[in-house]
Amino acid sequence: MTAFPIQVERTRTLKDKPDIHTLGFGQVFTDHMFVMDYTEGEGWHSARIMPYQPITLDPSAMVFHYGQTVFEGMKAYVTATNEVLLFRPERNFQRLNHSNDRMCIPTINEAHALVALKELVQLDREWIPTAPGTSLYIRPFIIATEPYLGVAASKNYQFIIIMSPVGSYYKEGLNPVKILVEKQYVRAAKGGTGEAKTGGNYASSLKAAELASKEGYAQTLWLDSIENKYIEEVGSMNIFFKINGTVITPALNGSILPGITRDSILHMLHSQNIPVEERRISVDEVVEAYENGTLEEAFGTGTAAVISPIGEFKYGEQQILVNNNEIGLLTQSLYDKLTGIQNGTIEDTFDWTVI
Ligand code: COI
Repeated sequence: MTAFPIQVERTRTLKDKPDIHTLGFGQVFTDHMFVMDYTEGEGWHSARIMPYQPITLDPSAMVFHYGQTVFEGMKAYVTATNEVLLFRPERNFQRLNHSNDRMCIPTINEAHALVALKELVQLDREWIPTAPGTSLYIRPFIIATEPYLGVAASKNYQFIIIMSPVGSYYKEGLNPVKILVEKQYVRAAKGGTGEAKTGGNYASSLKAAELASKEGYAQTLWLDSIENKYIEEVGSMNIFFKINGTVITPALNGSILPGITRDSILHMLHSQNIPVEERRISVDEVVEAYENGTLEEAFGTGTAAVISPIGEFKYGEQQILVNNNEIGLLTQSLYDKLTGIQNGTIEDTFDWTVI
């Protein structure tokens, strides 16, 4: 690998660290951040680690106007023997480049990004919380910085990595959440940007989430944009159902985000010889399974929440209870196993963690 020089400026005033027992999600940030610039003709350059601080952008910077931006989410853990573990970080940088491609953002060198991330995490390793259910959430992102109001791909960008010690993503923690099946709005359309991790997908989800929240639901269940019938995602997560002993998750179809937690769960299920199907699944099929008593478990997967059990769906007037609103055995065991691998308490037979 070619050398990747990173200029490091350490902060002169270390910040106070939060109480790790009362951590929320993404509210406090570590002492340092990584920044790298892209200039047309020059490529990516000026890799640097610097004190965490506000960034200055021209008000006409293209990211503010047309949303040309991508991001990633990953986590670091510290083990009982004081080793720092990243979970499948190369997959995140691969996905970042897929998102870059979709959003006409120049790709990054994935190996260099991992070098930068390791150096940043090492510098701020004291920020990795150790309480059960906590981790250091890592947010790499790229923004279009060219000052120009024409609709086009920006000529300049910034790649930034910030980090935040986090507890659970949902206030419910690992307790089952209530989900409203969304009939009016869609998260992503066929041919759209659903497969990319880009800000607009999340901004466009807010309206439905707000309406669901007013009715007492934690998240929305997203259906496909054509027939409004097939299940795509739940909130900002991928979704799994256990019906009559088989685990079913919507197949990646271009509008579903290819989750790394989703992929890890699929590998774990295969390794346990649990029947798994990646295919289209309609809400009607879930309703039918509920009615004939074969709907056993349902859960969302994502980096932030890892696994979030679903206790109830509301579909029009119909209420669908899952496992009596209790966390299912498979859901719990997948959560325990995956978080155990991530935090180093369970042997990583998949070779996923990176020291
Ligand atoms: C995740 O599940 O990690 C997400 O995509 C949520 C994130 C946007 C906070």
